[in-house]
Amino acid sequence: MAIYENASEITVKMMNLSDASARTAASKSHSDEDGTTVPGGKLLRHVAVSFCLLCVLQVALNISLRLALCIEENYKTLTEERDELKRKLSNFAHYSNQGWVYFSSSFYYISSIKETWQDSRDDCVRRGADLMIINSEEEQEFTRKYRQIMWIGLTDRETEEVWKWVDGTLLTTSFWHSGEPNNYEGTNEDCVAVNYHDYKNSWNDLECVIKNFWICEKKMTL
Ligand code: BGC
Ligand code: CA
Repeated sequence: MAIYENASEITVKMMNLSDASARTAASKSHSDEDGTTVPGGKLLRHVAVSFCLLCVLQVALNISLRLALCIEENYKTLTEERDELKRKLSNFAHYSNQGWVYFSSSFYYISSIKETWQDSRDDCVRRGADLMIINSEEEQEFTRKYRQIMWIGLTDRETEEVWKWVDGTLLTTSFWHSGEPNNYEGTNEDCVAVNYHDYKNSWNDLECVIKNFWICEKKMTL
């Protein structure tokens, strides 16, 4: 053990000691002047690298989650579309097998017996359809090919002279035969049939209780 002569010698010794401990502390967290890495610097570098890795992992996780969500959504949409297509295909098969004719985004059924306008309509509804609505020249031409007097889904039985289709829409484009509609000789002709096949304008109003063939329409697109 050292024995110190006086107080000033002790003070000098203490100053030397504190200098040494300060240098040691500094060397724990910094590099030496010649660039050699000391243990404190390594720790800092490890922390930085780990943080970066964590960030990369987080980004990868986010991308994976987003991808997984996307795949799930696409799968759902595809499944729904597949089911819808299946349903439509089986509908197409059903109406084709029942003798319906496909034309311009609709199936059409022409009856083989005659009925009143209301009974005709009821039959179409039972078949998942309704009496035909004509809203284009192509549809009008289509009806003429059958050369039959057939009920279509047009009537003014709610309000006289207000012609309405069975879907509730008002008549806009019409194909009345010349002189029609006429409530012929004071009769109550509230229902319409395609009648004069030789003419582009073939419609005639007739009494709804008369029995005619009829034509049903079922709209269908793939
Ligand atoms: C008339 C039509 C009428 C029909 C009734 C025809 O002679 O031209 O307007 O609806 O007779 O049967
Ligand atoms: Ca008439």
